Amino acid sequence: MISPDSTIGILGGGQLGRMTVLAGRRMGYRFNIFEPNEGCSAGMVADLEVNAPYSDLTSLRYFSSQVDVVTLEFENIPVSAVEAIAEQVPLYPSGQVLYICQHRQREKDFLAHSGFPCVPFKVVKSPQELAAAVIQLGLPCILKTASFGYDGKGQRKIDFIDEDFEVIWQEFNSDVGVVEKWISFHGEYSVICAMNEKGEESTFPMAENIHRNHILHSSIVPARIDLDKQREAEDIAIQIAKKLDLVGLLAVEFFLTQNNEWLVNELAPRPHNSGHYSFDACLTNQFEQHVRAVCGLPLGATTLLSPIVMINLLGDLWDPDNPEWDIVLSDPTVKLHLYDKGTPRLGRKMGHFCVVDESINTALRKAEGIFKALCGASNSNSC
Ligand SMILES: Nc1ncnc2c1ncn2[C@@H]1O[C@H](COP(=O)(O)OP(=O)(O)OP(=O)(O)O)[C@@H](O)[C@H]1O
Ligand SMILES: [Mg+2]
Repeated sequence: MISPDSTIGILGGGQLGRMTVLAGRRMGYRFNIFEPNEGCSAGMVADLEVNAPYSDLTSLRYFSSQVDVVTLEFENIPVSAVEAIAEQVPLYPSGQVLYICQHRQREKDFLAHSGFPCVPFKVVKSPQELAAAVIQLGLPCILKTASFGYDGKGQRKIDFIDEDFEVIWQEFNSDVGVVEKWISFHGEYSVICAMNEKGEESTFPMAENIHRNHILHSSIVPARIDLDKQREAEDIAIQIAKKLDLVGLLAVEFFLTQNNEWLVNELAPRPHNSGHYSFDACLTNQFEQHVRAVCGLPLGATTLLSPIVMINLLGDLWDPDNPEWDIVLSDPTVKLHLYDKGTPRLGRKMGHFCVVDESINTALRKAEGIFKALCGASNSNSC
């Protein structure tokens, strides 16, 4: 067990790292951050921030020598960097989990070969293969990059068979793509689960997720679907975590089809945006659970203390200036989280807020009302 007076190293310096630091500090842990870009969100609240590229083995070795365990908040870290660290200090999740989850083709192959229900897909490496995949899968479908995709970046929906696949492929500008069948789903949901080295397991209450422009807009908890159906997805998430031999957190994104079937969309072996609600509504939040899992502590209870709605605040709202925080803060049941990320950009996640209420419908109405008012007070036209 890595006890609470130890230092945890985190690879990646974004808001997921920041919130992990905030949660773990409460238990007495210290945190060092490794992040290529200086002045990062997590570094602002950490004990030490090391800025170097992930290819810089000397810096990685120095970083590892200063910490008792290493984890990550970001998947796109070269496996070579992770392997170099793991030679020096325990690292969770393992390089193998990262290797699978950082690459859409490997992740989908893993899911399909292990028998988990996932979206029908084809791997393509040329415009000819793309055209063939579209014919096989049927329209519409969606072309996605195999690596480095997030918030819908590197995705292109294909609606018509007479589209110019040569042009689509050129614009796509990547060697490998994954084409998926377009799912006209009933809804999107996610389950975050945790496992520690002893194999103890735990799941967070399912979130119902609403996306806008392929970016998460809101999470609604409890999800407004049948409890038995939720249990099914929780079970799938735990089975995936076990199959991966996971130590840490795993977020599993699901589509629920019109036929009431679960399809796994994506995996993320780390805290997840759709789990932010847990900071304000669960006995143990996802960030503390992450710390507990990677430090070999017993896992905490994830009991939901209240219905809650989380809404993301994107850089779009910082136009022309900071949003009018009075709109959010004047309601005492609303919790505001800002990530201190500096420059706001369109689509950049700058913060979120949560509305807690004993009725999920009231929480949802209030949250959307606040969001609309924030949009109205800005020049943003993304609402
Ligand atoms: N096959 C599909 N059918 C229908 N909608 C889809 C499909 N694939 C993606 N989408 C929509 O686009 C969103 C983003 O896609 P995906 O989860 O693959 O994204 P990503 O870019 O890897 O993003 P992130 O890692 O931020 O979730 C999904 O949540 C969903 O709303
Ligand atoms: Mg996703």
